[in-house]
Amino acid sequence: MTQRKGIVLAGGSGTRLYPLTMVVSKQLMPVYDKPMIYYPISILMLAGIREILVISTPHDLPMFRKLLGDGSQFGVSFEYAEQPRPEGLAQALIIGDDFLADSPSALILGDNVFYGNELEMTLAEADARREGATIFGYHVSDPKNYGVVDFDDDGKALSLEEKPTEPKSNFAVPGLYFYDERAPGFAKSQNPSSRGELEITDLNRTYLELDELAVELLGRGTAWLDTGSHENLASATDFVKVIERRQGLKIACLEEIGFYKGWIEKADIETAVKLHGSSPYGSYLGQLLKR
Ligand code: DAU
Repeated sequence: MTQRKGIVLAGGSGTRLYPLTMVVSKQLMPVYDKPMIYYPISILMLAGIREILVISTPHDLPMFRKLLGDGSQFGVSFEYAEQPRPEGLAQALIIGDDFLADSPSALILGDNVFYGNELEMTLAEADARREGATIFGYHVSDPKNYGVVDFDDDGKALSLEEKPTEPKSNFAVPGLYFYDERAPGFAKSQNPSSRGELEITDLNRTYLELDELAVELLGRGTAWLDTGSHENLASATDFVKVIERRQGLKIACLEEIGFYKGWIEKADIETAVKLHGSSPYGSYLGQLLKR
């Protein structure tokens, strides 16, 4: 079976978070104790994906490269590509076309934070589905701010709408999408929306119209956090802090995931411990060696 490859889209202007994002892109900013982009990368890794393309602006891409390197320290491989202007989420598939080289893909937005114990199983199911696309549905109080999916009584998707003024359901579509190898081709034939973007919802609708769109619901035991406003960013930090302090376990510690997957060895953790020194992240990595 062809390995699925991952794309993290971490560009965009983040104007809603000004002045925070006037110099540095938001996906480089912390959610509690690690950069935001660690969280979506952890989701791809938990889905078993090891070849990952990071897409960002020409200005920010060198910083992502500096932060993440070639990925070998986590047992994965990172490549990098520029998105010169924020021309839509579906453009990530076009930019990633050569990288994907006819492989199935998973696209995740660099500002989406997920947490939950059912997640790994749900991701494995989505990865196993090799024809068509899989998106997710998550019950939210404010569906108007998202892509929204509506279902029939059998749970089959009926419609997809981007930020509808009158949502047909409370199920938002998070920024995590699994596609078969046709996605870049579909994205290339898309027309920009009225706001001038290649909309991910239009790409997903192509699969819906072909009757090849699976929608998996993420249950209430899963947290999908928004980081798009100052309040939400602060809440995401609080959430991670509360869980990590209570459990003594970290969310999205990439070295830990790589180690647990068997992609890196004890010696790699020792190297990471040295790099992170006396920081709490470094001490945590040190404890992994004793488990
Ligand atoms: O977070 C999930 C939502 O993400 C989905 O429910 C929506 O269907 C989807 O359109 C998207 O909505 P947003 O309003 O959050 O999209 P936004 O334009 O804010 O972009 C999301 C992130 O992607 C943000 O960090 C900026 C980055 N981005 C955005 C665009 C349009 C890029 O890197 N490149 C782009 O071209």
